[in-house]
This record gives sequence, structure tokens and C-alpha cells, in this order.
Amino acid sequence: MNKTITRRRFVGLSVATGATILAGGRILGSTVRAGLALIAPGTATNPVFKIGGDLEVNRLGFGAMRLTGEGIWGWPPDRANAVKVLKRAVELGVNLIDTADAYGPETDELLIAEALHPYPNGLVIATKGGSTRPGPGQWVPNGHPDYLKQAVEKSLKRLQLERIDLYQLHRVDPKVPMEESLGALKEMQSAGKIRHVGLSEVSTSEIERARKVLPIVSIQNRYNINDRKWEKELDYCERENLGFLPWFPVGGGRGVKSTTLDAVAKAHNASVYQVALAWLLQRSPVMLPIPGTSNIQHLDDNVAAEKLKLTPEEFSRLSDQTK
Ligand SMILES: NC(=O)c1ccc[n+]([C@@H]2O[C@H](COP(=O)([O-])OP(=O)(O)OC[C@H]3O[C@@H](n4cnc5c(N)ncnc54)[C@H](OP(=O)(O)O)[C@@H]3O)[C@@H](O)[C@H]2O)c1
Repeated sequence: MNKTITRRRFVGLSVATGATILAGGRILGSTVRAGLALIAPGTATNPVFKIGGDLEVNRLGFGAMRLTGEGIWGWPPDRANAVKVLKRAVELGVNLIDTADAYGPETDELLIAEALHPYPNGLVIATKGGSTRPGPGQWVPNGHPDYLKQAVEKSLKRLQLERIDLYQLHRVDPKVPMEESLGALKEMQSAGKIRHVGLSEVSTSEIERARKVLPIVSIQNRYNINDRKWEKELDYCERENLGFLPWFPVGGGRGVKSTTLDAVAKAHNASVYQVALAWLLQRSPVMLPIPGTSNIQHLDDNVAAEKLKLTPEEFSRLSDQTK
């Protein structure tokens, strides 16, 4: 990638327009609307997306999970560095930060408040509840309505917010009917404690079931250039104008790999991580990648990936080889 875009992007990136939708070569409109046909994959160019139709974010966000200790447990070894990373993300124009009460647990939300409160206008903190942590590396769903309601109250306190912009059900608990878990979130929404509700790791049929209980604005499923299990769910989100937050967008700890990725990265003088992020952004106008890092240089590089444009030929070569 050209040196001019490897370190920084313009702060406060323009928030002017929604997506441009290309279908059969025709520009259909300036905003993404529900019920429209899918755009050709690889043609998404919109820098921003409106979550729930009203929360405008720059599409490249930040996942804060990696700022906790080993096994997503406790405080990070270098807390000052974690604070620096969060501040830097905002300085670079990131205004969507993903977290969860389960990260740490609790420490991730506390770190976000420590680094960024009082929050700048327009910063969207997306948190989650419904996953408990018996120990490092362990995750156990709890979708009981009373548990979820107190989880929302506790996240509000830790984040020092009066209302959470995006509250995501971390996991559907197989022991609790989804309608009951979501009923609790609906109550919290009616009480003004949650603005919008999202889901995580769900199928299209689960999304449809959930939408019978309350409006759902986003889905957070594992997805990256090497891992397309949830392709159908991504297409559903695009058709219905729901934000899609891919977790493990650069492959989690394992990274992203393919010979085509290497070749395209070389051609752009970029890293494979940057190409993987550019591919995601171009894949769909509702894609909101939330790459995680505790390293300032990696953060700078990831945000710069927004400026990397893949040719249609590169996009389809990458799509085919990395399936
Ligand atoms: N909903 C869910 O169930 C769920 C599950 C997992 C995660 N999440 C969310 O999704 C976010 C993203 O997932 P993730 O953080 O697990 O995975 P990820 O973003 O795909 O990958 C993070 C890993 O990649 C490394 N990395 C990132 N950028 C890099 C770069 N430019 N160069 C080299 N290495 C790089 C990081 O190491 P360094 O720290 O060394 O950069 C870290 O080990 C999380 O932060 C969390 O908010 C949600």
C-alpha cells in the first residue's frame, strides 16, 4: 500500500453519505434500504453506515476484546498501553467500538470508560450480555431474563452511560427460549436503557424469530476472508439493511492466509491483514469490521486498510481462492 495511507487516515472521516447501491450497473439510491436486491459483492464503497437507521458510524470499527489479559481474563499486562490504543482508535476516526461485559469480565468496559469518558459526540459503544465467564478461556451462555436485565444495569454503570447505543445478545442460551431473553432486552429498551438491539452468532431463522419480538439492527457472526460459514446470514443482513459485524475479521489469533492474499498484498505494498480488511469492506455495504489489537502499529495499519481499494479482478480472485 502506498506510504501515504499506511499510517493515518483523515480524522473524522466524512460522514456525508450512506451506501451507493449498484445493481445491474444502475445506481439505485444514496442510502441502503431494506428489501433491495444484493449489490454485486466487491462493489461496496460507502465509508459510513447508519446502524438502526440513525447511528452513523465509519464502517471500520474496533474490537476491544484483545485489550484484556490472557484468555480474555482480567486486566491487561500493560494497562496504560490499552488506554493508549483506545484513545488512538478514536483519534484515527474510529467511532464504533465493540466490547462485552464478558471481556475480562468487566475490565474491558471499565477500560473503555477509563480511556474515553466523557465520550466524544458520535462514539458508538456496542456492548453485549448473555455470556458468563467461569474462568480464563471459558464462556457459558446465560439468557435468563433477570440475569440479562441486571447485566444491562451493570454495563451502564461500568461504561458510565445513561443509555447503551447497541446492546447485543452475546449468545442465544439453548436453555432459555430466545423470546424470553429478548423480552428482557425489550423491557430495558422501553425503559430507555438501550437504544438498539443486536444479536451474535445466529442463523437467519433465529434472526427472523428474534425480529418477531423486537427490532434487530445488527448481527455479529464469525466471518473473514477464510471463513464464510455465515455467508447466507450476511446476505440476509444486506437485504434487510442490518449491520453485520464480523468477529475474527482478520482470523483471530490464527491470522488470514492464502497465496492470493500474499500476492495481492505484495502488489499493493500492504499486509495480508490490510487486504483481508479491504476485502471485507468491499464485500458488502452493511459490513462493519471490528478488528482487535493491543498494538498501536497494527491499529494504525488496520485503520489505513480503509483506503486500500481492490480491483474487481483482485476481489474475485481473493473471494474464489479463500473460500
Ligand atoms: N460475538 C462474539 O462471539 C465475538 C467473539 C470473538 C470476538 N468478538 C469481537 O470481535 C473483535 C475482533 O475479534 P478478535 O479480536 O478476536 O479477532 P481479529 O480481530 O480477527 O484478530 C485479532 C488478532 O489479530 C492480531 N492482529 C490484528 N491486527 C493485526 C495486524 N495489522 N497485524 C498483525 N496482527 C494483527 C492481533 O494481535 P496484536 O494484538 O498483536 O495486534 C490479535 O491477536 C473482538 O475484539 C471482539 O470485540 C466477538
